[in-house]
Amino acid sequence: MKIGVLGSGAMGSGIAQVAATNGHNVVLVDTNAEAINKASGKLQKILARLVEKGKIDESTSHSIFSRIEFTTNNQQFVSCRLIIEAIVERLDVKKIVFSELENIVGNECILATNTSSLSVASIAAACDKPERVIGLHFFNPAPLMPLVEIIPAVQTSQETVKTARDLIDSWGKVTVLTKDTPGFIVNRVARPFYGEALKIYEEGIADFVTIDWAMTELGGFRMGPFTLMDFIGNDINYSVTESVFAAFYYDPRYRPSLTQKRHSEAGWHGRKTGRGYYNYSENAVKSEPSKDEVVGQEIVDRIVVMLINEAVDALFLNIATTEDLDLAMTKGVNYPKGLLSWADEIGLNVVLKRLEALQDLYGDDRYRPSPLMKRMVKSGAKFFN
Ligand code: NAI
Repeated sequence: MKIGVLGSGAMGSGIAQVAATNGHNVVLVDTNAEAINKASGKLQKILARLVEKGKIDESTSHSIFSRIEFTTNNQQFVSCRLIIEAIVERLDVKKIVFSELENIVGNECILATNTSSLSVASIAAACDKPERVIGLHFFNPAPLMPLVEIIPAVQTSQETVKTARDLIDSWGKVTVLTKDTPGFIVNRVARPFYGEALKIYEEGIADFVTIDWAMTELGGFRMGPFTLMDFIGNDINYSVTESVFAAFYYDPRYRPSLTQKRHSEAGWHGRKTGRGYYNYSENAVKSEPSKDEVVGQEIVDRIVVMLINEAVDALFLNIATTEDLDLAMTKGVNYPKGLLSWADEIGLNVVLKRLEALQDLYGDDRYRPSPLMKRMVKSGAKFFN
């Protein structure tokens, strides 16, 4: 099956590499000739490094590279059975591009979007055959991150879902099925990891480095929230938060933070600008965390119960299954445990008490426990047996 990838930036080039590694002939298209040349050079370097490390041999590297056609001409998509779009995150542009694609490809071709925040239904609506449109959300870097969220729009046919999911499964990826709602699974459930950490900082409970220390050393997360936001880029992370907040009709659970907004406005985007919550210049001295275990544990408990509440509410609203919700967070963002198994471990009654205490203290709807959590505590139910 020939695969088309539109957009040769960070995501598109990674997805093309994955498809070619799995034996597909790939057409990688970008309207910008410089971008397509860059993608070709970058892939050669990545493959050379894999050979150096002994992960693949020279001839495999050669065949992966030779399976990809790098071009600026989207007419080359003509014989593709699946196109994955990974261009700029703008609905108006994606809509135009999808309706153009339909004029190039055959009737059997599936059109997928790698959007992380737009509605798949609105992209599908630009097509004559919206039933062939689906969201396939890869994580960055696509060749390394195992998770792919499969997002059928309301218009998507079952056949499209099955063909797309079977194919991505055959690439050795971990697929989870999610509803076409803002942030899908990962970008919805993970919001408190950033938002609650920022609020804890704003209240003066701890500084960035102490919160990061608590979440890694005591919480077992691979990266603290501020290190991670600096890594993702404050501009990107802030705009995702803002768009999820608006898309949920300004639910206070997703309220963005002024601290992050100011960092973003100041151009302190993180690693890529040399300064974010931390200073990345050569001579910068990194401050030390306070390492107060009592405060540290309070920080972890507060952020973790907020994350669990998001996961429980996503289950309550049938966004995904129990298993897929846990898989998404462990395979998409490397959480140390699935949030629902974590809830079982802590005890859902303990999680509920912590949330109710926060809600009582702040009087803010942000901390309202999911009705499913209340119902399960009443009946003594667990997520996994
Ligand atoms: P990027 O900015 O690195 O690359 C986008 C590429 O698309 C550029 O090379 C640009 O020249 C090209 N492009 C723009 N308009 C085009 C058009 N009309 N036709 C053909 N090519 C066009 O962007 P990135 O980070 O790769 O993101 C792409 C998509 O993937 C976005 O929808 C983004 O939300 C989504 N995404 C991004 C993730 C990330 O961590 N960067 C993670 C998951 C999804």
